[in-house]
Amino acid sequence: MYFTLTEEQLAVRDAARDFARRELLPGVIERDAKMQFPKEQVQKMAEMGFLGMMVSPEYGGGGMDTISYVLAMEEISKIDNSCSVIMSVNNSLVCWGLEKMGTEEQKQKYLPRLTSGEWIGSFCLSEPEAGSDATSQKTTAEDKGDHYLLNGTKNWITNGGSSSLHLVMAQANPEAGSRGICTFIVEAGWNGVSIGNKEDKLGIRSSDTTSIMYNDVIVPKENLLGPPGDGFKFAMKTLTGGRIGIASQALGIASGAYELALNYSKERKTFGKPISNHQAIAFKLADMATEIEAARLMVLRAAWMKDMGLDFGTAAAMAKLFASDVAMRHTVEAVQIHGGYGFVKEYHVERLMRDAKITQIYEGTSEVQRIVISRAILSGQLYQPMWIE
Ligand code: CAA
Repeated sequence: MYFTLTEEQLAVRDAARDFARRELLPGVIERDAKMQFPKEQVQKMAEMGFLGMMVSPEYGGGGMDTISYVLAMEEISKIDNSCSVIMSVNNSLVCWGLEKMGTEEQKQKYLPRLTSGEWIGSFCLSEPEAGSDATSQKTTAEDKGDHYLLNGTKNWITNGGSSSLHLVMAQANPEAGSRGICTFIVEAGWNGVSIGNKEDKLGIRSSDTTSIMYNDVIVPKENLLGPPGDGFKFAMKTLTGGRIGIASQALGIASGAYELALNYSKERKTFGKPISNHQAIAFKLADMATEIEAARLMVLRAAWMKDMGLDFGTAAAMAKLFASDVAMRHTVEAVQIHGGYGFVKEYHVERLMRDAKITQIYEGTSEVQRIVISRAILSGQLYQPMWIE
Protein backbone atom coordinates (compact mmCIF):
# COMPACT_ATOMS: atom_id res chain seq x y z
CA MET A 1 0.00 0.00 0.00
CA TYR A 2 1.54 3.31 -1.10
CA PHE A 3 0.36 6.50 0.54
CA THR A 4 1.90 8.76 -2.07
CA LEU A 5 0.52 11.03 -4.73
CA THR A 6 2.00 11.22 -8.21
CA GLU A 7 3.79 14.35 -9.41
CA GLU A 8 0.81 15.15 -11.64
CA GLN A 9 -1.64 14.84 -8.75
CA LEU A 10 0.54 17.08 -6.56
CA ALA A 11 0.76 19.63 -9.38
CA VAL A 12 -3.05 19.72 -9.68
CA ARG A 13 -3.39 20.19 -5.92
CA ASP A 14 -0.83 23.02 -5.88
CA ALA A 15 -2.40 24.73 -8.89
CA ALA A 16 -5.84 24.58 -7.24
CA ARG A 17 -4.43 25.92 -3.96
CA ASP A 18 -2.71 28.81 -5.71
CA PHE A 19 -5.78 29.55 -7.85
CA ALA A 20 -8.15 29.55 -4.86
CA ARG A 21 -5.98 32.00 -2.92
CA ARG A 22 -5.33 34.24 -5.91
CA GLU A 23 -8.72 34.26 -7.64
CA LEU A 24 -11.38 33.13 -5.18
CA LEU A 25 -10.31 34.65 -1.87
CA PRO A 26 -10.65 38.29 -3.00
CA GLY A 27 -14.32 39.21 -2.68
CA VAL A 28 -15.48 35.92 -1.17
CA ILE A 29 -16.97 37.62 1.92
CA GLU A 30 -18.83 40.18 -0.20
CA ARG A 31 -20.16 37.60 -2.66
CA ASP A 32 -21.46 35.57 0.28
CA ALA A 33 -23.10 38.60 1.92
CA LYS A 34 -24.74 39.75 -1.32
CA MET A 35 -25.62 36.25 -2.57
CA GLN A 36 -23.77 37.22 -5.72
CA PHE A 37 -23.23 34.40 -8.20
CA PRO A 38 -19.45 34.02 -8.87
CA LYS A 39 -19.74 34.37 -12.64
CA GLU A 40 -16.21 35.61 -13.34
CA GLN A 41 -14.72 33.11 -10.92
CA VAL A 42 -16.57 30.22 -12.60
CA GLN A 43 -15.21 31.34 -15.96
CA LYS A 44 -11.69 31.34 -14.52
CA MET A 45 -12.26 27.88 -13.05
CA ALA A 46 -13.23 26.73 -16.53
CA GLU A 47 -10.02 28.22 -17.97
CA MET A 48 -8.07 26.26 -15.35
CA GLY A 49 -9.84 23.07 -16.47
CA PHE A 50 -11.69 22.65 -13.16
CA LEU A 51 -15.16 22.26 -14.66
CA GLY A 52 -14.53 19.07 -16.60
CA MET A 53 -11.56 17.53 -14.85
CA MET A 54 -12.42 13.87 -15.43
CA VAL A 55 -14.01 14.24 -18.86
CA SER A 56 -12.07 12.70 -21.71
CA PRO A 57 -9.93 15.22 -23.69
CA GLU A 58 -11.86 14.45 -26.88
CA TYR A 59 -14.83 16.27 -25.34
CA GLY A 60 -12.72 19.13 -23.98
CA GLY A 61 -12.05 17.63 -20.54
CA GLY A 62 -8.85 17.19 -18.55
CA GLY A 63 -8.86 13.37 -18.65
CA MET A 64 -7.77 13.33 -15.00
CA ASP A 65 -8.40 10.78 -12.31
CA THR A 66 -10.79 11.13 -9.37
CA ILE A 67 -7.88 11.58 -6.96
CA SER A 68 -6.79 14.75 -8.79
CA TYR A 69 -10.38 15.95 -8.72
CA VAL A 70 -10.77 15.52 -4.94
CA LEU A 71 -7.42 17.20 -4.31
CA ALA A 72 -8.57 20.23 -6.32
CA MET A 73 -11.98 20.19 -4.63
CA GLU A 74 -10.36 20.24 -1.18
CA GLU A 75 -8.23 23.28 -2.01
CA ILE A 76 -11.08 25.25 -3.58
CA SER A 77 -13.39 24.34 -0.70
CA LYS A 78 -10.96 25.80 1.83
CA ILE A 79 -11.74 29.20 0.34
CA ASP A 80 -15.06 29.33 -1.53
CA ASN A 81 -17.72 26.66 -1.24
CA SER A 82 -20.14 28.33 -3.58
CA CYS A 83 -17.50 27.84 -6.27
CA SER A 84 -16.72 24.30 -5.15
CA VAL A 85 -20.36 23.16 -5.24
CA ILE A 86 -20.72 24.57 -8.77
CA MET A 87 -17.57 22.66 -9.68
CA SER A 88 -18.76 19.49 -7.96
CA VAL A 89 -22.19 19.42 -9.60
CA ASN A 90 -20.78 20.20 -13.04
CA ASN A 91 -18.04 17.54 -12.78
CA SER A 92 -19.51 14.70 -10.75
CA LEU A 93 -23.18 14.85 -11.62
CA VAL A 94 -23.64 16.49 -14.99
CA CYS A 95 -20.46 15.78 -17.00
CA TRP A 96 -19.96 12.34 -15.47
CA GLY A 97 -23.56 11.35 -16.15
CA LEU A 98 -23.45 12.59 -19.72
CA GLU A 99 -20.15 10.93 -20.53
CA LYS A 100 -21.14 7.66 -18.90
CA MET A 101 -24.64 7.35 -20.34
CA GLY A 102 -24.79 9.70 -23.32
CA THR A 103 -24.84 8.75 -26.98
CA GLU A 104 -21.88 9.90 -29.07
CA GLU A 105 -24.08 12.70 -30.46
CA GLN A 106 -25.15 13.86 -27.00
CA LYS A 107 -21.57 13.86 -25.77
CA GLN A 108 -20.27 15.80 -28.76
CA LYS A 109 -23.10 18.29 -28.58
CA TYR A 110 -23.05 19.05 -24.86
CA LEU A 111 -19.79 18.10 -23.16
CA PRO A 112 -17.48 20.66 -24.82
CA ARG A 113 -19.85 23.45 -23.75
CA LEU A 114 -19.90 22.17 -20.17
CA THR A 115 -16.15 21.66 -19.85
CA SER A 116 -15.30 25.06 -21.39
CA GLY A 117 -17.60 26.99 -19.05
CA GLU A 118 -19.74 28.25 -21.94
CA TRP A 119 -22.55 26.40 -20.15
CA ILE A 120 -22.88 25.03 -16.67
CA GLY A 121 -25.18 22.19 -15.76
CA SER A 122 -27.60 21.22 -13.04
CA PHE A 123 -28.88 17.88 -11.76
CA CYS A 124 -32.63 17.93 -11.26
CA LEU A 125 -33.78 15.04 -9.08
CA SER A 126 -35.21 16.57 -5.87
CA GLU A 127 -38.82 17.67 -5.75
CA PRO A 128 -41.03 19.29 -3.10
CA GLU A 129 -42.18 15.78 -2.11
CA ALA A 130 -39.20 13.72 -3.25
CA GLY A 131 -35.98 14.53 -1.41
CA SER A 132 -34.43 11.56 0.39
CA ASP A 133 -37.30 9.44 -0.95
CA ALA A 134 -36.16 9.99 -4.51
CA THR A 135 -38.29 7.25 -6.10
CA SER A 136 -41.46 9.31 -5.41
CA GLN A 137 -41.00 11.46 -8.51
CA LYS A 138 -44.08 13.55 -9.37
CA THR A 139 -42.57 15.15 -12.47
CA THR A 140 -44.00 13.33 -15.45
CA ALA A 141 -42.74 12.67 -18.95
CA GLU A 142 -45.51 11.62 -21.29
CA ASP A 143 -44.47 9.71 -24.38
CA LYS A 144 -45.97 11.54 -27.37
CA GLY A 145 -44.39 9.49 -30.14
CA ASP A 146 -41.54 11.64 -31.43
CA HIS A 147 -41.10 13.57 -28.16
CA TYR A 148 -41.83 13.54 -24.44
CA LEU A 149 -43.96 16.16 -22.70
CA LEU A 150 -42.37 17.17 -19.42
CA ASN A 151 -44.37 18.60 -16.51
CA GLY A 152 -43.44 19.16 -12.88
CA THR A 153 -41.37 21.09 -10.37
CA LYS A 154 -37.84 20.45 -9.13
CA ASN A 155 -36.51 21.88 -5.86
CA TRP A 156 -33.18 22.85 -4.33
CA ILE A 157 -31.43 22.84 -7.68
CA THR A 158 -27.80 23.94 -7.51
CA ASN A 159 -27.02 26.27 -10.45
CA GLY A 160 -30.81 26.46 -11.00
CA GLY A 161 -30.96 29.92 -12.55
CA SER A 162 -27.43 29.89 -13.97
CA SER A 163 -27.33 26.58 -15.79
CA SER A 164 -27.99 26.13 -19.48
CA LEU A 165 -28.44 22.37 -19.30
CA HIS A 166 -30.52 20.34 -16.88
CA LEU A 167 -30.38 16.59 -16.35
CA VAL A 168 -33.98 15.98 -15.30
CA MET A 169 -35.35 12.80 -13.75
CA ALA A 170 -39.06 12.26 -14.45
CA GLN A 171 -41.62 9.48 -14.20
CA ALA A 172 -42.54 8.16 -17.66
CA ASN A 173 -44.35 5.00 -16.59
CA PRO A 174 -45.93 5.27 -13.12
CA GLU A 175 -47.01 1.61 -13.09
CA ALA A 176 -43.38 0.57 -13.21
CA GLY A 177 -42.48 2.54 -10.06
CA SER A 178 -38.79 3.43 -9.82
CA ARG A 179 -38.22 1.45 -13.05
CA GLY A 180 -40.43 3.95 -14.92
CA ILE A 181 -38.16 6.91 -14.19
CA CYS A 182 -36.16 8.35 -17.12
CA THR A 183 -33.45 11.00 -17.37
CA PHE A 184 -33.73 13.80 -19.93
CA ILE A 185 -31.27 16.37 -21.18
CA VAL A 186 -33.23 19.63 -21.12
CA GLU A 187 -31.94 22.97 -22.36
CA ALA A 188 -32.82 25.87 -20.06
CA GLY A 189 -33.90 28.03 -23.00
CA TRP A 190 -36.67 25.70 -24.17
CA ASN A 191 -40.30 26.83 -24.04
CA GLY A 192 -42.03 25.97 -20.77
CA VAL A 193 -38.90 26.03 -18.57
CA SER A 194 -39.08 28.65 -15.80
CA ILE A 195 -36.90 29.36 -12.80
CA GLY A 196 -38.05 30.09 -9.24
CA ASN A 197 -36.57 32.63 -6.85
CA LYS A 198 -33.01 32.21 -5.62
CA GLU A 199 -33.07 30.64 -2.14
CA ASP A 200 -31.72 32.81 0.70
CA LYS A 201 -29.51 30.19 2.35
CA LEU A 202 -27.53 29.75 5.58
CA GLY A 203 -24.35 28.84 3.68
CA ILE A 204 -22.94 28.52 0.15
CA ARG A 205 -24.86 31.74 -0.30
CA SER A 206 -23.43 32.91 -3.59
CA SER A 207 -24.24 29.64 -5.32
CA ASP A 208 -27.52 29.75 -7.13
CA THR A 209 -30.14 27.41 -5.62
CA THR A 210 -33.63 27.62 -7.09
CA SER A 211 -36.66 25.58 -7.99
CA ILE A 212 -37.26 24.88 -11.68
CA MET A 213 -40.69 24.49 -13.23
CA TYR A 214 -41.37 22.48 -16.39
CA ASN A 215 -44.70 23.24 -18.02
CA ASP A 216 -45.50 21.23 -21.17
CA VAL A 217 -41.84 21.21 -22.19
CA ILE A 218 -41.30 19.35 -25.46
CA VAL A 219 -38.25 17.12 -25.09
CA PRO A 220 -37.11 15.48 -28.35
CA LYS A 221 -36.66 11.72 -28.11
CA GLU A 222 -32.94 12.11 -28.84
CA ASN A 223 -32.60 13.92 -25.51
CA LEU A 224 -33.49 10.86 -23.46
CA LEU A 225 -30.31 9.97 -21.57
CA GLY A 226 -29.70 6.24 -21.27
CA PRO A 227 -32.32 3.53 -21.74
CA PRO A 228 -35.99 4.26 -20.88
CA GLY A 229 -36.73 3.38 -17.25
CA ASP A 230 -33.09 3.59 -16.21
CA GLY A 231 -33.37 7.07 -14.70
CA PHE A 232 -33.47 6.11 -11.03
CA LYS A 233 -30.47 3.81 -11.30
CA PHE A 234 -28.70 6.50 -13.29
CA ALA A 235 -29.42 9.03 -10.54
CA MET A 236 -28.18 6.66 -7.82
CA LYS A 237 -24.99 5.76 -9.70
CA THR A 238 -24.29 9.40 -10.47
CA LEU A 239 -24.93 10.49 -6.89
CA THR A 240 -22.64 7.75 -5.62
CA GLY A 241 -19.75 9.46 -7.42
CA GLY A 242 -21.11 12.88 -6.45
CA ARG A 243 -20.81 11.92 -2.80
CA ILE A 244 -17.03 11.69 -3.17
CA GLY A 245 -17.08 15.28 -4.47
CA ILE A 246 -19.16 16.50 -1.52
CA ALA A 247 -16.98 14.53 0.91
CA SER A 248 -13.96 16.38 -0.50
CA GLN A 249 -15.84 19.66 -0.15
CA ALA A 250 -16.50 18.84 3.52
CA LEU A 251 -12.84 17.93 3.92
CA GLY A 252 -11.81 21.28 2.44
CA ILE A 253 -14.15 23.15 4.78
CA ALA A 254 -12.69 21.31 7.79
CA SER A 255 -9.07 21.73 6.72
CA GLY A 256 -9.61 25.38 5.75
CA ALA A 257 -11.08 26.13 9.19
CA TYR A 258 -8.29 24.18 10.87
CA GLU A 259 -5.57 26.13 9.01
CA LEU A 260 -7.20 29.44 9.98
CA ALA A 261 -7.53 28.35 13.62
CA LEU A 262 -3.94 27.09 13.77
CA ASN A 263 -2.53 30.33 12.36
CA TYR A 264 -4.69 32.46 14.61
CA SER A 265 -3.80 30.45 17.72
CA LYS A 266 -0.08 30.96 17.08
CA GLU A 267 -0.52 34.74 16.77
CA ARG A 268 -3.09 35.45 19.46
CA LYS A 269 -1.63 35.80 22.95
CA THR A 270 -3.37 35.46 26.30
CA PHE A 271 -1.83 35.19 29.77
CA GLY A 272 1.58 35.96 28.28
CA LYS A 273 1.77 33.26 25.58
CA PRO A 274 0.22 32.27 22.25
CA ILE A 275 -3.09 30.53 22.86
CA SER A 276 -1.77 27.50 20.91
CA ASN A 277 0.51 26.92 23.91
CA HIS A 278 -2.46 26.56 26.24
CA GLN A 279 -3.42 22.93 26.50
CA ALA A 280 -7.12 23.73 26.04
CA ILE A 281 -6.35 24.97 22.52
CA ALA A 282 -3.49 22.58 21.72
CA PHE A 283 -5.74 19.57 22.39
CA LYS A 284 -8.45 21.00 20.14
CA LEU A 285 -5.84 21.37 17.38
CA ALA A 286 -4.70 17.80 17.92
CA ASP A 287 -8.25 16.46 17.61
CA MET A 288 -8.89 18.54 14.52
CA ALA A 289 -5.70 17.43 12.78
CA THR A 290 -6.36 13.77 13.60
CA GLU A 291 -9.96 13.67 12.40
CA ILE A 292 -9.21 15.71 9.29
CA GLU A 293 -6.46 13.27 8.38
CA ALA A 294 -8.86 10.35 8.87
CA ALA A 295 -11.44 12.08 6.65
CA ARG A 296 -8.76 12.75 4.01
CA LEU A 297 -7.77 9.08 3.93
CA MET A 298 -11.42 8.05 3.52
CA VAL A 299 -11.99 10.54 0.71
CA LEU A 300 -8.81 9.49 -1.09
CA ARG A 301 -9.63 5.81 -0.69
CA ALA A 302 -13.13 6.26 -2.14
CA ALA A 303 -11.62 8.21 -5.06
CA TRP A 304 -8.96 5.58 -5.57
CA MET A 305 -11.56 2.78 -5.56
CA LYS A 306 -13.52 4.64 -8.23
CA ASP A 307 -10.37 5.05 -10.32
CA MET A 308 -9.60 1.35 -9.92
CA GLY A 309 -13.08 0.38 -11.17
CA LEU A 310 -14.03 -1.11 -7.78
CA ASP A 311 -17.46 -0.89 -6.18
CA PHE A 312 -16.97 2.34 -4.25
CA GLY A 313 -20.56 3.07 -3.12
CA THR A 314 -20.10 2.20 0.55
CA ALA A 315 -16.69 3.87 0.72
CA ALA A 316 -18.17 7.05 -0.79
CA ALA A 317 -21.09 7.04 1.66
CA MET A 318 -18.73 6.51 4.60
CA ALA A 319 -16.40 9.26 3.41
CA LYS A 320 -19.28 11.72 3.03
CA LEU A 321 -20.86 10.78 6.36
CA PHE A 322 -17.58 11.13 8.26
CA ALA A 323 -16.10 14.14 6.46
CA SER A 324 -19.31 16.17 6.74
CA ASP A 325 -19.51 15.50 10.49
CA VAL A 326 -15.84 16.45 10.84
CA ALA A 327 -16.52 19.66 8.90
CA MET A 328 -19.44 20.59 11.14
CA ARG A 329 -17.66 19.73 14.40
CA HIS A 330 -14.37 21.38 13.62
CA THR A 331 -15.69 24.55 12.07
CA VAL A 332 -17.54 25.10 15.36
CA GLU A 333 -14.22 24.52 17.18
CA ALA A 334 -12.40 26.86 14.81
CA VAL A 335 -14.90 29.62 15.64
CA GLN A 336 -14.39 28.88 19.35
CA ILE A 337 -10.59 29.15 19.01
CA HIS A 338 -11.03 32.55 17.34
CA GLY A 339 -13.22 33.77 20.23
CA GLY A 340 -15.11 36.96 19.34
CA TYR A 341 -13.16 37.27 16.08
CA GLY A 342 -14.64 33.97 14.98
CA PHE A 343 -18.09 35.46 15.20
CA VAL A 344 -17.46 38.20 12.63
CA LYS A 345 -17.29 37.84 8.88
CA GLU A 346 -13.80 39.23 8.39
CA TYR A 347 -12.11 36.12 9.77
CA HIS A 348 -13.74 33.62 7.37
CA VAL A 349 -14.39 30.83 9.90
CA GLU A 350 -18.01 31.78 10.53
CA ARG A 351 -18.66 31.37 6.78
CA LEU A 352 -17.01 27.96 6.77
CA MET A 353 -19.15 26.96 9.77
CA ARG A 354 -22.30 27.99 7.90
CA ASP A 355 -21.11 26.24 4.73
CA ALA A 356 -20.35 23.01 6.62
CA LYS A 357 -24.01 22.30 7.39
CA ILE A 358 -25.06 21.70 3.81
CA THR A 359 -22.53 18.88 3.41
CA GLN A 360 -24.63 16.87 5.90
CA ILE A 361 -27.71 17.49 3.76
CA TYR A 362 -27.16 17.57 0.00
CA GLU A 363 -26.42 14.65 -2.33
CA GLY A 364 -27.99 12.47 0.35
CA THR A 365 -28.39 13.46 4.00
CA SER A 366 -26.27 11.79 6.67
CA GLU A 367 -29.29 9.57 7.30
CA VAL A 368 -29.29 8.47 3.64
CA GLN A 369 -25.58 7.63 3.89
CA ARG A 370 -26.36 5.50 6.95
CA ILE A 371 -29.06 3.68 4.96
CA VAL A 372 -26.53 2.92 2.21
CA ILE A 373 -23.84 1.80 4.68
CA SER A 374 -26.14 -0.27 6.90
CA ARG A 375 -27.61 -2.04 3.87
CA ALA A 376 -24.08 -3.01 2.81
CA ILE A 377 -23.32 -4.28 6.32
CA LEU A 378 -26.55 -6.25 6.67
CA SER A 379 -26.31 -7.80 3.23
CA GLY A 380 -22.81 -8.98 4.06
CA GLN A 381 -21.26 -7.00 1.21
CA LEU A 382 -19.22 -4.58 3.25
CA TYR A 383 -15.79 -6.07 3.28
CA GLN A 384 -15.61 -7.97 0.02
CA PRO A 385 -15.57 -4.96 -2.29
CA MET A 386 -13.60 -2.66 -0.02
CA TRP A 387 -10.17 -4.17 -0.40
CA ILE A 388 -8.15 -5.81 -3.11
CA GLU A 389 -6.92 -9.11 -1.72
N1 CAA B 1 -26.32 2.11 -8.16
C1 CAA B 1 -27.12 1.45 -9.04
N2 CAA B 1 -28.39 1.10 -8.77
C2 CAA B 1 -28.90 1.46 -7.57
C3 CAA B 1 -28.14 2.15 -6.61
C4 CAA B 1 -26.80 2.47 -6.94
N3 CAA B 1 -26.00 3.14 -6.09
N4 CAA B 1 -28.91 2.36 -5.52
C5 CAA B 1 -30.12 1.80 -5.79
N5 CAA B 1 -30.09 1.26 -7.03
C6 CAA B 1 -31.18 0.54 -7.70
C7 CAA B 1 -31.59 -0.69 -6.89
O1 CAA B 1 -30.78 -1.80 -7.22
C8 CAA B 1 -33.03 -0.88 -7.31
O2 CAA B 1 -33.03 -1.53 -8.57
P1 CAA B 1 -34.17 -2.63 -8.92
O3 CAA B 1 -35.45 -1.87 -9.03
O4 CAA B 1 -33.70 -3.21 -10.21
O5 CAA B 1 -34.18 -3.61 -7.78
C9 CAA B 1 -33.53 0.53 -7.56
O6 CAA B 1 -32.35 1.34 -7.76
C10 CAA B 1 -34.29 1.07 -6.36
O7 CAA B 1 -33.39 0.99 -5.27
P2 CAA B 1 -33.85 0.98 -3.75
O8 CAA B 1 -35.00 0.06 -3.56
O9 CAA B 1 -32.63 0.77 -2.92
O10 CAA B 1 -34.39 2.46 -3.58
P3 CAA B 1 -34.73 3.21 -2.28
O11 CAA B 1 -35.85 4.11 -2.55
O12 CAA B 1 -34.86 2.26 -1.13
O13 CAA B 1 -33.37 4.08 -2.13
C11 CAA B 1 -32.06 5.68 -0.94
C12 CAA B 1 -33.01 4.50 -0.94
C13 CAA B 1 -30.65 5.15 -0.81
C14 CAA B 1 -32.43 6.47 0.32
C15 CAA B 1 -32.17 6.57 -2.20
O14 CAA B 1 -33.50 6.95 -2.46
C16 CAA B 1 -31.33 7.82 -2.08
O15 CAA B 1 -30.10 7.79 -2.28
N6 CAA B 1 -31.96 8.97 -1.74
C17 CAA B 1 -31.26 10.24 -1.63
C18 CAA B 1 -31.37 11.03 -2.89
C19 CAA B 1 -30.33 12.11 -2.96
O16 CAA B 1 -29.15 11.90 -2.70
N7 CAA B 1 -30.77 13.30 -3.38
C20 CAA B 1 -29.85 14.36 -3.57
C21 CAA B 1 -30.37 15.28 -4.58
S1 CAA B 1 -29.22 15.80 -5.77
C22 CAA B 1 -28.31 17.04 -5.07
O17 CAA B 1 -28.29 17.28 -3.89
C23 CAA B 1 -27.48 17.72 -6.07
C24 CAA B 1 -27.17 19.14 -5.81
O18 CAA B 1 -27.75 20.01 -6.43
C25 CAA B 1 -26.05 19.48 -4.91
